Amino acid sequence: MITPVIMAGGSGSRLWPLSRRLHPKQFLPLTGEGSMLQETLKRLALLEHHAPLLICNEEHRFLAAEQIRQLCINDAKILLEPAGRNTAPAIALAALHAVEQDPEALLLVLPADHLIEDVAPFHESVNHARQLAETGQLVTFGVVPQHPETGYGYIQRGEPQGSHGFKVKRFVEKPDRATAQDYLETGDYYWNSGMFLFRADRYLEELERFQPEMVAACRAALNGATQDLDFTRLDAEAFRSCPADSIDYALMERTEHASMVPLDAGWSDIGSWSALWEVSDKDDHGNVIHGDVMIQDGNNLMIHADHRLVTTVGVDDLVVVETKDAVLVAHKNRVQEVKSIVERLKAEG
Ligand code: GDD
Ligand code: MG
Repeated sequence: MITPVIMAGGSGSRLWPLSRRLHPKQFLPLTGEGSMLQETLKRLALLEHHAPLLICNEEHRFLAAEQIRQLCINDAKILLEPAGRNTAPAIALAALHAVEQDPEALLLVLPADHLIEDVAPFHESVNHARQLAETGQLVTFGVVPQHPETGYGYIQRGEPQGSHGFKVKRFVEKPDRATAQDYLETGDYYWNSGMFLFRADRYLEELERFQPEMVAACRAALNGATQDLDFTRLDAEAFRSCPADSIDYALMERTEHASMVPLDAGWSDIGSWSALWEVSDKDDHGNVIHGDVMIQDGNNLMIHADHRLVTTVGVDDLVVVETKDAVLVAHKNRVQEVKSIVERLKAEG
């Protein structure tokens, strides 16, 4: 049976100032009624599965537990990281934990901060992926690319495999723009959605080949873990010594056992303000507004007012986000750089 593994340890810094260190974007209701984490959990409702496993930073434990409780999910397990070591170790922890309960556990790895508009085709792809995962393949979900995005991994499709999947010919994590443009033109590349399905034991076997120290550190961190209320707190010293890397660089680019199942379910990584603008309902001028906002003569604006009235006159293509203690004004084509503002703020205290 499937064990959903929800990765919720990211910082979401490109959605500053709404997304904050103590309240990052996966805990915010950006695209639905519930927070992004809650929407991710709700999407699992019609899928037969074991108790979900959530992995997040210990700073967010009460936020995570409260949001899970609101959905009346009583059996979720929460693993707490003292500090992020990126996705490869987070998934290794989940895999080690899951094989203890069920040696044949299948992990459905889901980032807590993605939007999926159509749940039925998502479930269909999961069922297709499951057939390949059961044979030992590490399956990713591939989305037909819309533009030469450099923030995603790209999968080159190989020979058909199973009834609906393909061998991965090549996996390239975050290529530069020119390469991404070439990939788009060839037509046989897909975006890596960042969601995966595989047997927990197969993930560990492959990771052991390429990153033995990572697996050893994760094993030690779990062996020394303590139970604190409903939380599993890792041995901090052991986990801090773990090398940090993403599943994409650490494993998917290297393994020969990767497969891809296409996903056509209105998937989107709400990674930036412009990505949120893309998927939001717009008025006749292409404006997306939230809160107390008045626009005079403006197009393609994304304006979010939390505490005060925000007005604009004669400007287009801007993102304006007003919160209690910070205001962001950015050009819609430069929103990726919000991350550097957050880094500067951190550095300058
Ligand atoms: N628990 C935990 N610990 N979760 C983490 C950590 C960590 O240290 N680091 C990241 N995550 C979570 C994030 O919250 C997010 O939900 C997910 O793991 C993916 O991490 P990102 O940092 O958002 O990755 P990315 O968006 O740059 O790239 C990945 O996703 C793209 C699609 O959105 C890659 O898989 C790309 O190949 C892919 O295209
Ligand atoms: Mg992401």
